[in-house]
Amino acid sequence: SYGQTGTLNISTDSKTTISKHIYGQFAEHLGHGIYGGFWVDKTLPVKKQDRIRLDIVDALKKIKIPNLRWPGGCFADEYHWRDGIGPATERPRMVNTNWGGITEDNSFGTHEFLELCDLLGCEPYIAGNVGSGTVDEMSKWIEYLNSNSTSTVVQLRKKNGHPAPYKVTFWGVGNESWGCGGNMTPEYYTDLFKRYASFAKDYPGGRLKKIASGPNSDDYHWTEVCMKNIPNWMMSGLSLHYYTIPTGNWGKKGSATDFSEKEYFGTMVNCLKMEELVTKHSAIMDKYDPEKKVALVVDEWGVWTDPEPGTNPGFLYQQNSLRDALIAGTTLNIFNNHSDRVRMAALAQTINVLQALILTDKEKMVLTPTYHVFDMYKVHQDAKYLPIKLSVPDYEVDGKKIEAVNASASQDASGKVHISLVNLDPHNTITITTGLSDVKWQTVSGQVLTSANLTDVNTFKDTNKIHLSTFSGAKKDGDKLVVSLPAKSVVTLELK
Ligand code: AHR
Repeated sequence: SYGQTGTLNISTDSKTTISKHIYGQFAEHLGHGIYGGFWVDKTLPVKKQDRIRLDIVDALKKIKIPNLRWPGGCFADEYHWRDGIGPATERPRMVNTNWGGITEDNSFGTHEFLELCDLLGCEPYIAGNVGSGTVDEMSKWIEYLNSNSTSTVVQLRKKNGHPAPYKVTFWGVGNESWGCGGNMTPEYYTDLFKRYASFAKDYPGGRLKKIASGPNSDDYHWTEVCMKNIPNWMMSGLSLHYYTIPTGNWGKKGSATDFSEKEYFGTMVNCLKMEELVTKHSAIMDKYDPEKKVALVVDEWGVWTDPEPGTNPGFLYQQNSLRDALIAGTTLNIFNNHSDRVRMAALAQTINVLQALILTDKEKMVLTPTYHVFDMYKVHQDAKYLPIKLSVPDYEVDGKKIEAVNASASQDASGKVHISLVNLDPHNTITITTGLSDVKWQTVSGQVLTSANLTDVNTFKDTNKIHLSTFSGAKKDGDKLVVSLPAKSVVTLELK
């Protein structure tokens, strides 16, 4: 494993800020994401406020999650907000038809979600129901949340314990309207968007940022129709959903913990597809919105594997390996590098669902490798984006090649430069020489995340198998920075 080298050049010539909202999260009423995740039984022996688990809150505060998307996902388009307010014992019960057909008792509703966001210090991002809800229902939800009037619904909010308006601003107008949200054509959806959005009103202090239900993966036609039919002033974002399926086959996605190098390689090819998706959707958006007023909001992304054996397949519970960390680091690098257009995103889904940050089993909890990547990358939140040029060796399997290293860089308000690098090659250390002509710096420090095997995971028994370590592989050499990137690792450097 000698002789693999590459170069990285970083420029400070940029006017773009990496929005902190790229580091957003998604929590749906699905499996043990909310129930048994954020929101636990009164008897569970953990620290709680109300029924909100505070050890989870503390862990998420540490990585500064900027926003939380709720209540779905597919669930959003069958959710009726009035079922989730008022005394818990009187709330109607419903079937969660998308996720396991379980009975939803609505004990976690609007007030509980906003209490959670308040504890997390993050912004709520609510997805309104277009698929099975009315214009009036959505419009009244916003009035309930944000108005300070004496209208009947506002009095109800006050009676339910929240006198002040919540001032929610991020507002999704439907979810996956091309699929579980109503199986619509883009033409039909854009007409509906305009109708629902017209009655989604701004109240003082709560100017809505409306996010349209955007394309599924590479459905460029959907983007074209949305951008053509919806005036820019009406939407602040267009969503994009893309999941990394290890095998590329939705019927047999592949195991979260038991995979070959070949399957790992294929997974990374599928993960890197995000670069192409973001580039091509952005190019379409540029035609209709050259000033980039409308954000591309990747509000569902992550790896989606087969469920963990023995768990309810409708709950989408999966383990999280070193491979997931490489996926997270790579995807966040892509978002940072496209931060002129990608100004919001949400990992699917925070706790116990898909590519989670945290897994729980009753009172036990474990931070996943993905969590540690979000911890390392938090330095990029609201920092100045620095354009990079990379020249790196390929990582090759069966004659197919991908670039072995990907990276992104930013400069924070105090002048410190942060560089995040991912080495996807599981065999070779790669030495990167970095040209930083216009950055002034004296010292470099860093953190690294790696492990002996790509399939390594943190478990409830061994919670710390994959953990952050101090990185000592970066050296100053004249005005150059030389970094030895360990095989299959994520590294973040700080230059000051
Ligand atoms: O994240 C799981 C599901 O994936 C969401 O409910 C849906 O929007 C998407 O298809």
